[in-house]
Amino acid sequence: MVEWTEFERATIQNLFSKMDYDTVGQQSLARCLIVYPWTQRYFGNFGNLYNAAAIMGNPNVAAHGKVVLHGLDRAVKNMDDIKATYAELSVLHSEKLKVDPDNFRLLADCMTVVVAAQQGAAFTPDVQAALQKFLSVVVSALGRQYH
Ligand code: HEM
Repeated sequence: MVEWTEFERATIQNLFSKMDYDTVGQQSLARCLIVYPWTQRYFGNFGNLYNAAAIMGNPNVAAHGKVVLHGLDRAVKNMDDIKATYAELSVLHSEKLKVDPDNFRLLADCMTVVVAAQQGAAFTPDVQAALQKFLSVVVSALGRQYH
């Protein structure tokens, strides 16, 4: 089981309580699709992903980014049991969607860039470390059902 310090708990709750899920979700997923273009292969039904501008303006990317952020919200609300919280989602990504689990880390890193840009000076090394730990636990939990 993952141990969290009071600072880490407070930081994660605080970051997500102030977060605009629509914007952060859209920006994070769009960046991931632009910076790591092979990730586009999973979103063949999303329409025009022809270039960065198309990806940024794509309503399906925006909608799905929001879904992903609401998925993350479940981990924020269940920080002491992220593994169980994501058991089904891990099976879905593994067995049905066949998403390579290495991609979870890439999306998490894109999200970190987006959050850091929004936070500015408030994104201190301690805050970064707390977010990195949280996202690492999420990434690991999502990869649990792969075998
Ligand atoms: C669907 C969360 C990373 C590809 C979903 C859904 C959630 C979710 C909540 C909807 C599940 C449902 O309909 O029941 C997350 C979280 C991620 C993550 C929290 C990591 C932080 C990724 C990555 C990829 C991916 C990295 C691919 C590169 C997909 C696809 C779907 C999906 C293709 C189905 C989309 C559709 O509706 O057609 N994800 N996801 N996910 N995810 Fe993820």
